[in-house]
Amino acid sequence: MSKERVLTGITTTGTPHLGNYVGAIRPAIAASQHPETQAFYFLADYHAMIKSQGPEFVHQSTREIAATWLALGLDVDNAVFYRQSDIPEIPELSWLLSCLAAKGLMNRAHAYKAAVDDNLKNAEDPDFGITMGLFSYPVLMAADILMFNANKVPVGKDQIQHIEMARDIAKRCNHLYGSKKKPLFVMPEAVVESDVAVLQGLDGRKMSKSYGNTIPLFLSEKQLKKHINKIDTNLLEPGEAKDPDTSTVFQIWQAFASPAQTDSMRQAFAEGIGWGDAKKQLFELINEEVGEARERYHVLLEDSAHIEAVLQAGAEKARGYSAPLMAELRSAMGIRPLG
Ligand code: TRP
Repeated sequence: MSKERVLTGITTTGTPHLGNYVGAIRPAIAASQHPETQAFYFLADYHAMIKSQGPEFVHQSTREIAATWLALGLDVDNAVFYRQSDIPEIPELSWLLSCLAAKGLMNRAHAYKAAVDDNLKNAEDPDFGITMGLFSYPVLMAADILMFNANKVPVGKDQIQHIEMARDIAKRCNHLYGSKKKPLFVMPEAVVESDVAVLQGLDGRKMSKSYGNTIPLFLSEKQLKKHINKIDTNLLEPGEAKDPDTSTVFQIWQAFASPAQTDSMRQAFAEGIGWGDAKKQLFELINEEVGEARERYHVLLEDSAHIEAVLQAGAEKARGYSAPLMAELRSAMGIRPLG
């Protein structure tokens, strides 16, 4: 039996925060260590172009995200770790798939629909400011996934629709160009992060860059303390019992604590631990988990040449899969030498 393939992409538009770490990076690194799986993790820099916030921003974000995964111990000898734009077969596949994907299907994509709705609300032309990149985004994502015949795709809830679209497109391609015995593409399945893994931000809403409520993953100790002190709490005094289940401090605690530590913090809440004290303990817990990786991260950031070499080696490995599949598909679609 060949190993199950797990694949996920990280758009290079930002600096990783604790929510990314708990919801995506930590479980992905754990999954990559499983002997029965083969992990494909990539920096989705072509996706970053859709919302491009400037070349330097995307470039720096690529460096930071790569350094983060390496600092946290992703074993790149086991996992295939690469940058999307280093794999020329991906945009090539994206074009071929876009010739199979129904436009009507893309019309229903959430990101595009939300942009249209916004325009209508503001009495604009429905397509005002909407690029073909945004519109075709699910096709590029289908190419990312199908290129490596991924079985499992860990994503946030908002991305489930894209995996369904990838299946739809894959089915059509298999039907038109594959053989019954040997389909061209396997059907990918979404694996959705559990609610426990969706971390709350400073204001209690989901931690997200778009809400401006994040705690960046590799802050200095001083800054980490400062950020944790900014987590919203209520006005209960030390000595007054507090409700752990409505507390962001507790929710984040739980994401880093062992079951025993969670139980004792629950007890401490019942006994009226002060917010200052709870936050101090939270700082220590997080710092304990990320402290060493933070040091490696800063060393890596100073050594871009090393990060680049790791990505190039990853691209070479990835192309060992993408090039043959692309050759097979091109040929199946009638794009092949004449003689
Ligand atoms: N669109 C995903 C996101 O915004 C990132 C992504 C790009 C991705 N390509 C992918 C995730 C392929 C999984 C598989 O989170």
